[in-house]
Amino acid sequence: MFYHYKNVIDEGDLVLVFISRTTIKPIYVKKGEILNTRYGHYLHDKMIGLKFGTQMPGEKGYGFIHLLHPTPELWTLSLPHRTQIVYTPDSSYILQRLNAKCGSRIIEAGTGSGSFTHAFARTVGLKGKVFSFEFHEPRYLEAKKEFEEHNLKNTIITHRDVCNDGFNIDMEINGDIIFLDLPSPWEAIPHLNTVIANQAGICCFSPCIEQVDRTVKALEANGWVNIEMVEINVKRWEARKDMKRSVVDVINRIKSIQGKKLNNKISKEDSKNFKSSRKSLKVKEGDENFKWTEVTKLETELKSHTSYLTFANKICSLNIQ
Ligand SMILES: C[S@@+](CC[C@H](N)C(=O)[O-])C[C@H]1O[C@@H](n2cnc3c(N)ncnc32)[C@H](O)[C@@H]1O
Repeated sequence: MFYHYKNVIDEGDLVLVFISRTTIKPIYVKKGEILNTRYGHYLHDKMIGLKFGTQMPGEKGYGFIHLLHPTPELWTLSLPHRTQIVYTPDSSYILQRLNAKCGSRIIEAGTGSGSFTHAFARTVGLKGKVFSFEFHEPRYLEAKKEFEEHNLKNTIITHRDVCNDGFNIDMEINGDIIFLDLPSPWEAIPHLNTVIANQAGICCFSPCIEQVDRTVKALEANGWVNIEMVEINVKRWEARKDMKRSVVDVINRIKSIQGKKLNNKISKEDSKNFKSSRKSLKVKEGDENFKWTEVTKLETELKSHTSYLTFANKICSLNIQ
C-alpha cells in the first residue's frame, strides 16, 4: 500500500486520518468500528467506498477529518515512536544524494521505528531490496509486524547486532546503498566489506561530531573515498514586495518622522490632524500607485538539526585493504 496507490477505501485498508496539522492518526478500516476524536465521531462503515483524500464530516454535524492514502512522508508524521526517527528533510536529501532509485539494494541499520525504511522501500520498488537490521528484539518484532501489515514485500528485516555479528544473511545482499543510524557506526563499517556491491554509497547518521570523527577514520581505514559531512538546516524564506522609494517619498518620510518627534509638543488639535495624516501614509503592499521590487527575507532559523550526515563512496576494485 505504500508503493501501489489506489483510489477507493476498502475494508482492511490503512488510512492516515488527518485530524489537525499536528495529529495524523493511522487506522485500519473495520466494519462496526468508530473513530472518536476531539472533533467528533466517525463511522468506519461510512469510510468504506469513499475516495482517499475525502473530507469526511463528523456524525453530529460538527467537525471533519481527511482520509489520506498512506505515504512514507505521512507515515513518518504519524507512526508510533519507539526510537528517535529520521524525518523527511533528512531522508529525502539522503535518498537523492545516494542516488537511490528503482532497483537499488539498501542496507539499513538499525531499523528503529521503521520511519526511513518506508521511504527506502517505496524508492527501490519491487525490483529493489531493503535489508534492515535491528538488535533490540521488541523493536525488531514490532517493525517486522508493521512491515508485513504494510505489505513491504521488498523489505527483509533481521534481528542482529551488526557491530558484533556483521550483515551476512543466508541470501545475497550485494548492497549499493548503506545507511547507518547507530550509536557506533565505526564498529559496523568493517563488516560491510563482504556484503556490498562493486560500487556503493554510504550515509552515517550521527548526532555528535565526535561520532563523525570516529566514523570518518573507520571509513578511510576501510577504503571509502569522497568522504563528506553534511548538515541539513531547514530555513523558511519569506518573499514579499518592497516599495521602491523616490527621493520625494524619502523626504516625506523624514518629515513624517520629524513630525512624530514634535508631536508631543503640539496641541491636541494638531495632534489629531497629524495622526490622520500619518494613517494616510500607510500603503498596502503592492499598491499600484507606487513602484515595488520583489525581495526575500530569511525568517529566524527553524530548529531542524537532527544529525550530521557523513557520506562516502566505495569502488571495490579500488579497495585498499
Ligand atoms: C535511532 S534508531 C533508528 C531510527 C530509524 N532510522 C528510523 O528512521 O526510524 C537506532 C536503532 O539502532 C538500533 N541499534 C543500535 N545498535 C545496533 C546494532 N549494533 N545492531 C543493530 N541495531 C542497532 C537501536 O536498537 C535503535 O532501534
